[in-house]
Amino acid sequence: MTRKEYGHFDDANREYVITNPQTPFPWINYLGNEDFFGLISNTAGGYDFYKDAKFRRITRYRYNSVPMDSVGRYFYLKDGDTVWNPGWKPCKTKLDSYECRHGLNYTRITGSKNGVEASVLFFVPLKTWAEVQKVTLKNTTTEAKRLKLFSYTEWCLWNAATDGENFQRNLSTGEVEIERSAECTAIYHKTEYKERRDHYAYYALTNAKADGYDTDRESFVGLYNELSEPQAVLDGKATDSLAHGWSPIASHYVEVELKPGESKDFIFVLGYAENEQNAKFETRPLSISHLTLAANSQEPMVKSQLLTSLGEKDHHIINKVHAHAIIERFATVEAVDAAFAELCALWDELLSKYSVQSSDERLNRMVNIWNQYQCMITFCFSRSASFFESGVGRGMGFRDSNQDLVGFVHQVPSRARQRIIDIASTQFPDGGCYHQYQPLTKRGNNDIGGGFNDDPMWLIFGTTAYIRETGDFSILDELVPWDNQPGSEVSLMEHLRISFNHVVENVGPHGLPLIGRADWNDCLNLNCFSNDPNESFQTTGNKNEGSKAESLMIAGLFVFCGRQYVELLKNRPLAANGQKPMANAQEIARAEREIEKMCQAVEKYGWDGAWYLRAYDYYGNKVGSAENEEGKIFIESQGWCAMARIGAEQGMPEKALDSSAELLDSEHGMVLNWPAYTTYHIELGEQSTYPAGYKENGGIFCHNNPWVIIAQVLAGRGNDAWTLYKKIAPAWIKDQDLHKVEPYVYCQMVAGKEAAKPGEGKNSWLTGTAAWNWLTVSQYILGIHPTYEGLKVDPCIPGDLKEYKVTRKWRDAEYVITVKNPNGKQRADKPTVLPYEPGRHEYTINI
Ligand code: BGC
Ligand code: NOJ
Repeated sequence: MTRKEYGHFDDANREYVITNPQTPFPWINYLGNEDFFGLISNTAGGYDFYKDAKFRRITRYRYNSVPMDSVGRYFYLKDGDTVWNPGWKPCKTKLDSYECRHGLNYTRITGSKNGVEASVLFFVPLKTWAEVQKVTLKNTTTEAKRLKLFSYTEWCLWNAATDGENFQRNLSTGEVEIERSAECTAIYHKTEYKERRDHYAYYALTNAKADGYDTDRESFVGLYNELSEPQAVLDGKATDSLAHGWSPIASHYVEVELKPGESKDFIFVLGYAENEQNAKFETRPLSISHLTLAANSQEPMVKSQLLTSLGEKDHHIINKVHAHAIIERFATVEAVDAAFAELCALWDELLSKYSVQSSDERLNRMVNIWNQYQCMITFCFSRSASFFESGVGRGMGFRDSNQDLVGFVHQVPSRARQRIIDIASTQFPDGGCYHQYQPLTKRGNNDIGGGFNDDPMWLIFGTTAYIRETGDFSILDELVPWDNQPGSEVSLMEHLRISFNHVVENVGPHGLPLIGRADWNDCLNLNCFSNDPNESFQTTGNKNEGSKAESLMIAGLFVFCGRQYVELLKNRPLAANGQKPMANAQEIARAEREIEKMCQAVEKYGWDGAWYLRAYDYYGNKVGSAENEEGKIFIESQGWCAMARIGAEQGMPEKALDSSAELLDSEHGMVLNWPAYTTYHIELGEQSTYPAGYKENGGIFCHNNPWVIIAQVLAGRGNDAWTLYKKIAPAWIKDQDLHKVEPYVYCQMVAGKEAAKPGEGKNSWLTGTAAWNWLTVSQYILGIHPTYEGLKVDPCIPGDLKEYKVTRKWRDAEYVITVKNPNGKQRADKPTVLPYEPGRHEYTINI
């Protein structure tokens, strides 16, 4: 039976091409990579925001709505009596052709109907707070065509959380302005602008005259209509509505004539701007119809008409200098095309830092395009905004962002540097951490607070990755506050020392790390003991006093990252003459002793006979032991303790890997725990609430499969590593219907072997899986590690991979490394270390 395919990769153009709009779930992409962002589905659903998906939501999106994926940036075409959208939705008129190309930070959707082809390119130009949409309409017939084009987007009243709940206020606050001229029609969203906000949004048609507009949703859509049948579109004419509260929208209406074969471009700009407090308003006397002055000029630039929700009474006209500048900048097709070319050039440059050429096109595709692209996205968003993360629940995660860094640091090291400082600034003086912070304010999020005892170690993980990549030890001298309190600054190095100590100072009865609220597995809540459905598992600690709950995952993490801390101390030049730090000898010795102590504790109390235990619960009972009826073995501690090679002399890592292969593995990857819990265990918390086979209860948590893969590499098992890598990597997905979510990026979770539908993916895009698989494939499988000594080449590959070539730009050098494996080995006898030297170098390495 041939399986249904909804799309395919186009590697030459670095795009995923969707050919059927009815994908098993909306397949999305991200626009923007710095301050202004958009999420866009293959039918143009989604929304935009500035920096923070909660506090600066620009356009509305209705999560959990029916039909799903509702509201986006829609274009309606009316051709005679036929109304259609290039992206099929919301009208769902049967199209003659449809294609959506998701590229790197852009999406191009093309549809055709009755001899008209409509193509829309969506992207955010570099360093620009706006989404640009270039609509190209082409008449492919031999007759002239008269069409009507309508744009549509719905404004969010800024705070996405209150926008969805505080209707008694929201339905009265909406305000807009409309500025019309022969060249441009701009609709401004200015809700709350007159008082505490100094920002506004706008949606402009920049290169043509609009024949009408709408800014009030009910006027455009019709109170009892759906978005598939907006009344204004059905009537073939905008209503020129002016929003007064209720639900402000922005819609342009354009009458278009196309000769046979003719095509026309329309440029729309959906932007955000901020003004200084003392320059928020226009100062000239207001009249409903007036002349707008060009910035810094006394000359009228555009003869335009201004309308506002309050009309003559409005004393608060937005100073639009910034919006005008962007509107003018993108008023021609040439300017838009040039900005698009700049975006593509940026991606050429970003992807040139690491590329592989091998005989396996799927490996090349993951490494050279999609895995790196997803790493940029997770770096930008952490876990905040996707089609599974509503953008209001979470900001940037402390542990999440530190892990994301590792997939991103080679792309733009300066941004990684700033991120490390931002993250460390939210740490508490005892080394504990706010679990999340808001990207807009960069302040720790009090709703979730701290107490996740793995968090501090991740700062060491992220920072050392940055230094190995860049050689920039100066970051360690940066003065970084505790909890953002001015005056509390200490060096980043001191933050790392305190992070290390946080584990040392918080051990339980077996000398293993106390887990706190939870470790990496947010749902293993060993101190929560909740019987109250109104409590959050994440933040409730009904029993903390006297807890004996210890984590083997943190133990492995501590040993692994603790060694990175020691290695850093050993390599850090302290004196101006670049000498290595004699003064650190004591700290090095102390840290090594602590690491050794932890290894001994794991060997003595953390080994279950054939695998590592997962934890001790509040009472000191074993979790993840053959003695347990369910949850006998967990992946996290196998991954981490085996990566840290704890008990290597007794063969523990290898035995743990064998047990994982036997008990956790499945067709789609390794499950998190086995057997999954079938009843609620109050002493284990949220994990045991998920139905068996899903999420942290027996789901395939893609994030921690790479831990096992790395452990396999460190055990020299190249074939096993490769086999597991392919089970998780999207390029190898066989059944798109079953997998359901996007086949070009990793998802957080794939339903496990005990689930109703094993192999069904969920929670795509924002997952630490991206960074971890990047680390796994780039550094461990293909084996190119940046180290303090030089670029270490230490591949661990399947025996049948006979040759590949990696091009790696590292600091000011470029290494072209050909790895040859004529004898079908899985690993070289010893690694090769290439010295750091600026310039281009070619090497051939035989294993
Ligand atoms: C999810 C976890 C997540 C946690 C924190 C849980 O419901 O299953 O994956 O980390 O919430 O938001
Ligand atoms: C998602 C969270 O963002 C991440 O921090 C956590 O480790 C995993 N869920 C596992 O629970």
